[in-house]
Amino acid sequence: MWIIPLIFLGCAIMSYIYLPTETVFQLSELPVNNKSLCILFSILSTVTFIRDFLDSRKRIRARENVTPTSAPHTSPNLKPHAMTMRGVIIERYGEDSVTVSDVVPRPELNYVDEVLVRVRAASVNPVDIQISNGKGQALCNSMRSMRGMPAGGGKEFPVILGRDFSGVVERVGSKVTKVKVGDEVWAAIPFYHRGGAMGEYVLVTEADIAKKPQGISHQDAATLPFVACTVWCSLVRTAVVGSKRTKQQRVLITGGTGGIGTFATQLIKAWGGHVTATCRDSYGARMLKNLRVDEVVNVSEVDLESALIDKPKFDVIIDTVGSSVRQACFKLCTRGSYLVSFVTPVMDDAEKYGMMIGSFVSNVSKMKLAWQSGLNFSWSFCLPEGKILDSVTKYVEAKKIRPVVDQIYRLEETKKAFKHVAEGHPKGKVVITFDGGRK
Ligand SMILES: NC(=O)c1ccc[n+]([C@@H]2O[C@H](COP(=O)([O-])OP(=O)(O)OC[C@H]3O[C@@H](n4cnc5c(N)ncnc54)[C@H](OP(=O)(O)O)[C@@H]3O)[C@@H](O)[C@H]2O)c1
Repeated sequence: MWIIPLIFLGCAIMSYIYLPTETVFQLSELPVNNKSLCILFSILSTVTFIRDFLDSRKRIRARENVTPTSAPHTSPNLKPHAMTMRGVIIERYGEDSVTVSDVVPRPELNYVDEVLVRVRAASVNPVDIQISNGKGQALCNSMRSMRGMPAGGGKEFPVILGRDFSGVVERVGSKVTKVKVGDEVWAAIPFYHRGGAMGEYVLVTEADIAKKPQGISHQDAATLPFVACTVWCSLVRTAVVGSKRTKQQRVLITGGTGGIGTFATQLIKAWGGHVTATCRDSYGARMLKNLRVDEVVNVSEVDLESALIDKPKFDVIIDTVGSSVRQACFKLCTRGSYLVSFVTPVMDDAEKYGMMIGSFVSNVSKMKLAWQSGLNFSWSFCLPEGKILDSVTKYVEAKKIRPVVDQIYRLEETKKAFKHVAEGHPKGKVVITFDGGRK
């Protein structure tokens, strides 16, 4: 929500630094130069900052004023007095902080728009490892405190890990109409939420939840919501492509065998685009061919730039690898193409400089890269939304997108699952099942 004021602030600084001091153009009778543009952008930044600040206060107050549900519909399976549950938590940051606990506080419905779900399976995303190591704690805690959650100085603990899940609705708030008790559902959870998906129960808002696709297991379904919302936001909102505008477009995906890569590949193919994807071994190359990737570049055998420099340029690049491939990516696009990267400095900058200055610094570095490359360069983030999952369901049910599962672990094997994601180069996703057994 602070993005627009920060963009204006960035523009103010950029125009002051980069534009000449003499008149740049005439606006009616007024000569416009770097100083007047800087003042204009500073005013716009201040006004939008005040507007966003007031909006955020209003939203928090509105949510606090929602009356708790009076008579939630209750499933007979729910033990009414069981206040704890099993789950995967951290109570400190650092290596080896991930713990499976039997006494995690169990969430309860607080608001009329909430849904309590019995989790059947949750997936492990790289962000779970990052959160457990304390990466991004400044950003997460700022987001939490803006939303009235305990945060900072250890007040956020215990944090339940897990960003996406598949499960069965246990209870619903009195205003919920989208799902009912007993429905099979799936959802992604914002990265800063303390109540993650790796517990026997999870609380989600109606806006974030969707009915799970039919014909796939909970273990398979749990692999998709977080990567689906991330990829959808990057393609549809940032790179402005979609089912109608992707036909014949050339898309490059770096890190094609990961969670993001395997989903993005299938979505773009379903939309009729031409996909080139990278991998780092022959197993990955075979896997990408099976996902109908048009051209596979095994970067352990050939350098990315030399493999593709003589091919037609890409319209969109989805980057999951980061700075090591950036310069090559710049050369593989034409001016105005979109390069969307999921590997962002936002968490690190917030850690180093605090939330406000940190997001400003990240935005300036993004603008600098866009300026240098002449591309529409952007970072992209996961914004969970039930409506995105409703759209994805259609592709999954039509078998145009299939979940790619590397390994399923039982809850008791969580540490192994985390180690596998951190060090084991999974191909596709790693899942934790709450059903007590493997598929
Ligand atoms: N901004 C957001 O909201 C957001 C959301 C989701 C994910 N992300 C980030 O996006 C990245 C990818 O996520 P993911 O879920 O797809 O992770 P993942 O499942 O671990 O996949 C990572 C992929 O990148 C490849 N890779 C890693 N390092 C590489 C390198 N140096 N050169 C070439 N390929 C490399 C891996 O290949 P191998 O299989 O050979 O190791 C794998 O294909 C992560 O950094 C994650 O934190 C950001």
